[in-house]
Amino acid sequence: MSDKGKSSTISGFYKLPVEKRVEFVKNFSNLNDEETKLFSSCLDIGIANRMIENVLGTFEIPLGIAVNFLINGKDYLVPMAIEEPSVVAAASNAAKIARIKGGFKTECTDPLMIGQIQILHMDDVFEATKKIMNKKKEILHLANEQDKVLVKFGGGAKDIEVRILDSPIGKMIVTHLIVDVRDAMGANAVNTMCEALAPMLEELTGGKVRLKILSNLADKRIVKAKAVFDKEKIGGEHVVDAFLESYNLAAIDPYRAATHNKGIMNGIDALIIATGNDFRAIEAGAHAYASRNGQYTSLSHYYKDKNGNLVGELELPMAVGIVGGAGNIYPKAKLCKKILGIKTAKELAEIVVSLGLAQNFAAVLALSTVGIQKGHMSLHAKNIAVMAGAKGNEIDKVASQMIKEGKIKLDRAEEIIKKIR
Ligand code: MEV
Repeated sequence: MSDKGKSSTISGFYKLPVEKRVEFVKNFSNLNDEETKLFSSCLDIGIANRMIENVLGTFEIPLGIAVNFLINGKDYLVPMAIEEPSVVAAASNAAKIARIKGGFKTECTDPLMIGQIQILHMDDVFEATKKIMNKKKEILHLANEQDKVLVKFGGGAKDIEVRILDSPIGKMIVTHLIVDVRDAMGANAVNTMCEALAPMLEELTGGKVRLKILSNLADKRIVKAKAVFDKEKIGGEHVVDAFLESYNLAAIDPYRAATHNKGIMNGIDALIIATGNDFRAIEAGAHAYASRNGQYTSLSHYYKDKNGNLVGELELPMAVGIVGGAGNIYPKAKLCKKILGIKTAKELAEIVVSLGLAQNFAAVLALSTVGIQKGHMSLHAKNIAVMAGAKGNEIDKVASQMIKEGKIKLDRAEEIIKKIR
């Protein structure tokens, strides 16, 4: 158990019926009966109708829970909204292995987001740059006037940076406004500030402001997670070596890096969605960050420690919020935040990146040893059995027969159903 509360470790969790799993989470996270009922409810159509346009209904995906997570000495149950089989099991298993050597340790920067203001049509971009820098104090003041609440909580516009860029249509300036967004994702606060600064920057530079928008390459809002994976637990030092051979392809080859990073995002997106955050923003930031040195590469990094154990590290921008946005509208997203027991956006970001590392470790370990299909087989076979019309306990019977035969096909499932009925 961690030093800060209940343990998230439970063996055979996947074998429990849904009600028992819910009970475990209810006890772990002190949920009340009403909150517990939310697990099996759908988003209210009235809420959905206010969230987006042209609403017809809602679209459900499974919500699972990853167990065993120990992050910075604290136990977490991690909600994951995802349609892909094996992902939740893989994360739980990786977290169980990471616990042996103390779980995940994280570090992160302040929650600094970047807003971009593009300025064109100036006679002298260097002169214009100087004028902007000389008025830094006034610019920050005007930006902070737009969000007094954020400033009250210690956030707000903190700095500006000016970049001169050459383009096919001539030179331009991009002013970066650096904003500490505290517990928000920050898009609204930053975009409002950037729009408010446009007239001032036009007057200062004599140029024309075009784009005023947040950058999803949030490279001043970085989280790093690290874990040591016990060599014996994963099958010995030769498995660590096999793992590193697999990892090295992702480090040098964009074709492999894309798939490797997709495995990381399997975990990350699932938690981002469960907490009502913007997964497109996180994806965009992650892949841009993976290309920051000119070649797309692996977001994670692995090596062997002096004892032969495998060390994994994952570093990426993590623009997540716990206030504002859809996460405050969705009842289930609020519930997922309660399950996590998080107090700050920073804490959420640290869990997200730890989960990404766990997911990546699990995928590369499977790929380096038994392959990925074995883990997928059981749920895949069950899905095929259901598609073929299996009901109740027929599903398990049909699935295990198909796995035994090594033939997981719809027509075979139909034959088996006929035979057992
Ligand atoms: C599948 O969703 C994810 C993997 O392809 C990740 C990887 O290849 O590392 C298994």
